[in-house]
Amino acid sequence: MNDILPLVLVTRALPEGWLDGLRGRCRTVVGDAQTPGFDAPLLEALPDAEGILCLLTERIDGAVLDRAPRLRVVSTMAVGVDNIDLDACAARGIVVGHTPGVLTEATADLTMALLLAVARRLPDAAADARAGRWSTWSPTGWLGTDLHGASLGIVGLGKIGTAVARRARAFGMRLMHASPGPKPAVEAELGVERVPLTQLLAQSDVVSLHLPLSSDTHHLIDARALATMKSTALLINTARGAIVDPQALAHALHTGAIAGAGIDVTEPEPLPAEHPLYGCPNLLVLPHIGSATHGTRRRMAAVAVDNLLAGLVGSPLPHPVLPPRAPL
Ligand code: DGY
Repeated sequence: MNDILPLVLVTRALPEGWLDGLRGRCRTVVGDAQTPGFDAPLLEALPDAEGILCLLTERIDGAVLDRAPRLRVVSTMAVGVDNIDLDACAARGIVVGHTPGVLTEATADLTMALLLAVARRLPDAAADARAGRWSTWSPTGWLGTDLHGASLGIVGLGKIGTAVARRARAFGMRLMHASPGPKPAVEAELGVERVPLTQLLAQSDVVSLHLPLSSDTHHLIDARALATMKSTALLINTARGAIVDPQALAHALHTGAIAGAGIDVTEPEPLPAEHPLYGCPNLLVLPHIGSATHGTRRRMAAVAVDNLLAGLVGSPLPHPVLPPRAPL
């Protein structure tokens, strides 16, 4: 009975119960929980695989697809799909699913956590307290930036950008966005003004990135873009690391071209401990934890399972990857 079930590669083992939906619906070959990429057993199974359930740590490109002639569906447990060669999949008739929506609120929360931490200099203040440098209450110690009345520039007013706008509005921030198209309903509801990216960079007190990584957005925030920002401005990135040029960011922070940054995503990932970015003033680096809550990660796994099962039987995916929007 079992050998007629389709074979699925689960590239990284997930906790007990997260993939229960696969039981009885497919055979699985499961990669090591801690090891990104395709290990030997996964590579060996590729020729027979009809589905792949992967994480953002696996590169699914033409070379992988060429080894998997029976593959029909790739389901990633992530909303971002920059690790997947969508053209190569389309050329082979392989459908691709992802997990939008379920991680929106968790990622927006983390964005606000970064924003607050950097604006109020929490890492420095906490480190100083712990290290015995809290000698008295100081009228000039650990001064940060007021969020109330500050302007937030959201680059990419999609689901997560909108959820951030909603939160920032409650903090009394003034909102603008730069996005491929207008969003009349959200703009009206939250009072967000659509402006060109150049204007957003020049006028925002905080710039927050919420757009997918593509050839159009790779190093969108480069030395030139950083130079147009206010010297008091903060940069927040919870989207993809390679949207920001890391060298340019390090230079901007060291020279005071901008006042601080909070980044949950980096180029490369993981960011090696000896990377120069860690030595930058007022920079908080997190290890890509935007969606890292128990509930959100379980929901992401469930959506990934639903996409995978639909793809295996040739049904429309509940959450197919849509063609990219026009650049900003
Ligand atoms: C995604 O889903 O793309 C996030 O970066 C990880 O949750």
